[in-house]
Order: sequence, then C-alpha cells, then structure tokens
Amino acid sequence: MSSQFDIIHKDAAGRIGKLTTPHGVVETPTVMPVINPNIQTIKPSDMREFGAEILITNSYIIYRKEELREKALKGGLHALLDFDGPIMTDSGSFQLSVYGEVEVTNELIIDFQQKIGSDIGVPLDIPTPPDVSYERAKEEMDITIQRLKDARELVKGDMLLAGPVQGSTFRELREECARELSDVGFDVYPFGAVVPLMESYRYADLVDVIASAKKGLDPTAPVHLFGAGHPMMFALAVALGCDLFDSAAYALYAKDRRYITSRGTYHVDTLKYLPCSCPVCMAHSAEELKKAHNCTELLARHNLYVTFQEMREVKQAIWEGNLLELVEQRCRSHPRMLEALKQMYTYSPWLEECDPSSKSTFFYCGPESSKRPEVLRFNKQLERLTIKGSVLIRAYPTKKDSDYDNVLIFKPPLGSYPQELAEVYPFNAEVVRNPDYESLESAYMNTIRLVELNPDAKFTFLMQDKFEHPLMDRLRGMDNFMFFSSQKE
Ligand code: GUN
Ligand code: ZN
Repeated sequence: MSSQFDIIHKDAAGRIGKLTTPHGVVETPTVMPVINPNIQTIKPSDMREFGAEILITNSYIIYRKEELREKALKGGLHALLDFDGPIMTDSGSFQLSVYGEVEVTNELIIDFQQKIGSDIGVPLDIPTPPDVSYERAKEEMDITIQRLKDARELVKGDMLLAGPVQGSTFRELREECARELSDVGFDVYPFGAVVPLMESYRYADLVDVIASAKKGLDPTAPVHLFGAGHPMMFALAVALGCDLFDSAAYALYAKDRRYITSRGTYHVDTLKYLPCSCPVCMAHSAEELKKAHNCTELLARHNLYVTFQEMREVKQAIWEGNLLELVEQRCRSHPRMLEALKQMYTYSPWLEECDPSSKSTFFYCGPESSKRPEVLRFNKQLERLTIKGSVLIRAYPTKKDSDYDNVLIFKPPLGSYPQELAEVYPFNAEVVRNPDYESLESAYMNTIRLVELNPDAKFTFLMQDKFEHPLMDRLRGMDNFMFFSSQKE
C-alpha cells in the first residue's frame, strides 16, 4: 500500500507533484495552514482564498475536548472544520515534545483519526530534540519505528498514513530511520523534530537532517517538513526534496504583531511602509495596520498571502529550471541561511543525481554557484570527453582558429568545454565577466582534470589577466600544457 504521488516536473531535488487523497488531489509543493480547533483567526472555509489546497489540524486537541470530540465523531472532521478538501491530522506528538506526556496511546489516536475521517493520519511518534545523546536518539527512534509499524497494521480504510522520520541531529540515524520506514511503506514521510533547529536559525543543521533522511527514502516518496512554515526557507527545503509544509507561523507571528516576508520578518511597529501588494497591504497604510482593532487578523491574512505567493514563486522556478538561482537569492536573506546554502552544496554529488541534465540557463549568482551540481556533473562527464591533437583554450568562441585541431572555451565556473557545445546547457551559462576566486577554482580544477585525461593532446591556453589564480601553477607544471599571453583578448 502506498500513496499515489505523481511527479510531473523536477529541478535539483525539488519537484512539482500531485498527491491523491480521499478528498482530492493536491499539487505540491504546498503549505498546509495549521487550524487550531479552538481558536480560528481565519475560518478554514476561507483558506482557499489564499491558495490553500489542504489543511492540517490536531486530532489530539479535538480528542481532548469532549464537545469537539463528539462533534467530530458524529459529523466527521470535514464538517467540524467546514472544509471539504483534504485535511491532515497530527497526533499529539508535538504536545508530547513540549509537555513530556500525553493522555492518549498510539492505537487510540490512530483509531480516532480514522473514525473522524482524516485524509492523512500521523501515529504517536517521539519528536526527539536536537543534540541529545546518541543512545537516547536511537532508543526513541526505535520506539517510534515500532509505533509506526503498529499503526501501519491498524489502518484499514482509505486514510493515508504518515511515517515521521526521527533521529535527532544524527545523520546516520535519520538515514537509517528513513530506510526502515521505507521498507514498511508509508504514504507521506514527515521529517520530525526540526522546529527547534528552525527556531534557533540552525538552517545548516536542518540541511543535514533533510539530506540524510532523503538519502534513506525512495526518491519518488512525498516528504513533509513538519512545522516549517516560514516562506524564507521554502526554496531551500524544496530544492532538497521537501513537498509539504505546514504553517502555524502565519497565526503565531500575527499574534506577536509580526509581518512575514520572503526575506524575513518585521515587527509591524517598525514598518513605515508595507512592502507587499496583497489585498490587506493595498487597503491599509502601515499606520492604519498598526492601529487596526483587528490587527492580528489582518497580519494573519497578509502572512498567509505571502506564504502562498512564495510557494508559487518556488513552483514557477521548478517549472523554468531555475530553482537553484532562487535558493541562492533567498539564502542571502540571513547569514545563517547562507551557511545553509553552502551546506546544501556539500551534497552536490547527491543533488547531481536528481537534477535534470537540461534546463533553461545557468545564472551565476555568486561564489556558491561554483559548487552547483552542474559543475560537478561536467567534471564527471570529462571521462567520456576525448580530445586529440592541438587544442586552443580561450575565453570566446571564434570561427578562424584553423591552426588548431580543437577549440575549447574557458568559462568559469564550468571549466573548458568544446566550443561546439556553447549553446548546450549548462555551457550556455550567463556568468560574470570578472570571475571570482571560487569560480576560477572550479574552472581550473575541471581544466586540470581534462588535461590529465588527455595526455596526448597539446593544450595552449590564451591567457587573460582576469583569469589569474594560484591553480595556474598546477597547469604550468603539466607537460602537455602551456599558457600564451595575449593583450588583445
Ligand atoms: N510537529 C512538529 N514536529 C513534529 C514531529 O516531529 N512529529 C509530529 N507528530 N508532529 C510534529
Ligand atoms: Zn501584504
């Protein structure tokens, strides 16, 4: 038994997909607004206005309050919330992580979620926080895996079942947990207990958790990043292969008078202008918003608009094949996000396996672009590129270099490639004309490899001042390579 998840478009490890649930098909990546059954800043039935296709609520909160419990058991979850689309329910595990205990068992809460007609149910997993001892992480992970296996046996109807991946901040445990859950077979794989990492801006550690859990899963399985709702990190998490997000942030931030943007968060009282064109921001000045009697609701509405706007931007980027460019831009919003970007590219060998080989145009956005999967892929492909005879390496294509058997173009960060490939992705890259150190480093490393792999060819590099780099000494030391200085180029 596994869910129907069809992937229709890919970029990096990100994808646009269609997840089929009992109450309809959801297009991913998407955000599930969190509905608190007790407090509703915005009515569930209004959620489609913002772009929501699926909601998430908490079955434990419903279960604990007799009035809600009876209503849900009688009329069903969808009538209780007055929403006829897909609804996911969480189990109370988050309450477990905050309060240390809950008043339900795994069996009881799974049974309740089925009875009230949830579309996607979650067992009572243990959200082990970051930085605990290995022993504790492993012990709690093993309990979680056993509970998930029990839940798998208990679900008989058409409710999809989520299998949360735990393992704290141990990469090998995250991967192991994902692999074991994969063998059992769940419909959605949430990555759990990442909220503390996000709250403390540990985005580089979040990258490690996502990448290692992904490695243990079938790449075609749908993934939910539990508790992630800030639009600033959507591009990054989607590029690493997350499909579903949930946002309580829109309401929690609003309660704290905070105004979300895709670059970060403002306290509304510091705003002189409203940098947004949503219906709320077009109808109010910053002063009016601050003084409005319903400021919390207005902020929640604005927060939801920008949350879904960012997700559409991410989807369009996947569609166009420039998701990594969007990630590189978004990761400049905060230095801790920049750390995460660098960390993401340490996984380029894995990203390269997922990444489509042809897209629109590679745009160089900064030193980190030198570590993109495309640069690494070219390095791997060099093994299959045989170059013979006399070879000229230069910065620009030319028609009349008949003195040479081959002409290669040197374009940082890619390296040196046959000029016949100039229009082919990624060699059609738009790059800066004054390359930085990292970009030259990648380009020279790929060129050194090419020269090494073709010992019988004789390379002449038409040098320019802007290509100066310490790695040139490595090339100078090679027998079949020489630099030729030209003032004209
Ligand atoms: N909400 C946020 N994190 C978690 C988690 O790890 N497990 C569950 N069930 N819910 C969560
Ligand atoms: Zn707005």
